Amino acid sequence: MTAIRVFPDPQALAEAAARHVVESAQAAVDARGAFSIALSGGSTPRELHLKLASPPLVEQVDWSRVHVFFGDERCVPPADERSNYRMAEETLLNRVPIPRNQIHRMRGELPPEQAVEDYERELRDYFKDEPPRLDLILLGMGDNGHCASLFPGLAAVHEQQRWVVAEYVAEVSMWRITLTPVIINLAREVIFLVAGAAKADMLRQVLEGPFAPDERPAQIVRPSPGEVVWLIDAAAAAKLSPPTG
Ligand code: 6PG
Repeated sequence: MTAIRVFPDPQALAEAAARHVVESAQAAVDARGAFSIALSGGSTPRELHLKLASPPLVEQVDWSRVHVFFGDERCVPPADERSNYRMAEETLLNRVPIPRNQIHRMRGELPPEQAVEDYERELRDYFKDEPPRLDLILLGMGDNGHCASLFPGLAAVHEQQRWVVAEYVAEVSMWRITLTPVIINLAREVIFLVAGAAKADMLRQVLEGPFAPDERPAQIVRPSPGEVVWLIDAAAAAKLSPPTG
């Protein structure tokens, strides 16, 4: 099932997204005693993180039950300003009482293939013999239609075996580590956070255009039986067809 919710501006989007994460966390803890979430990189999640880490929402999450993973990472050390972990640390993880051993970082400082093996082990250790079904995966979308580090034309977009891969992404001139569609489409829930007019053309193509994941990798995200929720601001939604019904 795909749901689309449009908010007037990035602040309202971040507020609604943060509340949605809290509700998902509470439901997961009630049902299974833990909440596993993969964070997204990029700039859009910053506001969401800050709202999650501030009253009243911060008190509504049992952080002792939360396990944080990452959807992708740049192959740089954690202190590098390009690191998704560093952004998450600054805006969320060092502001909430989550046990540090429940933060499952992609080790971007390692050689890419070693980082991939390390992260696959991290996932297997957590999920043990169960399928790697994360409760929630947060994703952004680039104006070229990429999500996580699944960029147009990359083999990773069509990966059907491995849970994590590394690829050199010429578009951003760096190695990236990313969850593959195998893991993403096992998630109970995927939330796309998309804001800004620059995304409007691509968002219309992704949501309303033909299925072409090599050009628009975000289209490869079709969790089943999980759900996809698109949380977008009015600027990004400006070119979508008016809702019918
Ligand atoms: C990354 C992200 C990437 C991001 C999109 C959107 O590592 O950069 O995982 O997929 O979500 O590029 O980024 P913005 O939120 O900055 O537009």
